Amino acid sequence: MLKRSVRPRSRRTGVAGRVIVAGAVAAAVAVAGTAASAAPARTMPATMKANITKDLFGTLDDGTKVWRYTLTNSRIRVRIITYGGIVQTIEVPDRRGRVTNVALGFATLDDYVASNNPGPYFGALIGRYANRIAEGTFTLDGVTHQLPINNDPNSLHGGTDSFDKRVWTPTAGRNSAGDPTLRLALTSPDGDQGYPGTLRATATYTVTDDSIRVDYRATTDKATIVNLTNHSYFNLAGEGTGDINGHLMQLNANRYTPVDATLIPTGQLAPVAGTPLDFTKPVAIGDRIRDNFEQLVFGRGYDHNWVLNGSGFRLAARVTEPTTGRVLSMFTDQPGIQFYSGNFLDGTLYGTSGRQYRQGDGFALETQHFPDSPNHANFPSTVLRPGDTYRTSTVYTFGTTHH
Ligand code: GLA
Repeated sequence: MLKRSVRPRSRRTGVAGRVIVAGAVAAAVAVAGTAASAAPARTMPATMKANITKDLFGTLDDGTKVWRYTLTNSRIRVRIITYGGIVQTIEVPDRRGRVTNVALGFATLDDYVASNNPGPYFGALIGRYANRIAEGTFTLDGVTHQLPINNDPNSLHGGTDSFDKRVWTPTAGRNSAGDPTLRLALTSPDGDQGYPGTLRATATYTVTDDSIRVDYRATTDKATIVNLTNHSYFNLAGEGTGDINGHLMQLNANRYTPVDATLIPTGQLAPVAGTPLDFTKPVAIGDRIRDNFEQLVFGRGYDHNWVLNGSGFRLAARVTEPTTGRVLSMFTDQPGIQFYSGNFLDGTLYGTSGRQYRQGDGFALETQHFPDSPNHANFPSTVLRPGDTYRTSTVYTFGTTHH
């Protein structure tokens, strides 16, 4: 039986209305309501029952209810809210079986809403276009479109009222293997945030034995651009335990897309060899983060897109936390991955377990098409046309190492 610790606060509504969606009642009761706090670490049963439950996370000012789904499988428990499709917590064991939450986030809906302009995007689904578009403008089929400028002078992560701030429509279920799934759907009307076409997007989270899989799909009724991702931040030693400088980062990428001072790609695909951006072998994030290298000055640390080697569904990144032995492996079919070392966390936010987040207290890995692709003919295209379906998948696998 899991021990209960302090429940996350919910200032507006409290935690009420817990409903069992599927799975054994006893197991659901065992997992529901256990707070996702960073400490003290708990020991989960060696394996848990695959299951999905939901509870009311909060209510927005306009009365919209925001639900929180808890997806549990053998060695992992994940909480996802319908606001922004946000992954609130990810609880996984360390090499000794001690379980903690390794995802940065907040305890309450109010905290997510209050911090979202433009915000840290903790755990959120990002759309319509992850990352930056130069000066918020692009031309498609001869028509120029203007997007909101929310990261002066550029448009970042889909604009001011972006997908991470919308309430998605949930459908809970199971896949054929019995793993819990949560399908989130959103319709973005023609012209939404300046983007052309009605975009119908879904993101389906599946929690398998030790992994989270996200399958993204989108269709449109007019030519448009699309680049969806998830913006989870991790600290594999536990959310709120300090900086991630000691994590060993490995990226399956020999090249990156250098940026200008506003973090817009210059258009080059430059080799990482001989630079502090070379993570072809595992290197501690903190080792070279303060090197006198112009790209690190522009990013205030790492905030770059790496050009993933190869194509098709493949390993993109592997991150190891030496003290706990936790290992995160990420797989994707996307051409790029943004590694962001939490440079803008500045001590003003307090996370899920009530602790302050300072610079470098978490890292994000965002599978994606390259930033500003619509303005770079040499980058893989992000255009979606009527009749075609945008599809991409990312898998996050949590394991441990003994060394
Ligand atoms: C992305 C960007 C960063 C920053 C974060 C959110 O990773 O590349 O510059 O905006 O999102 O804080």
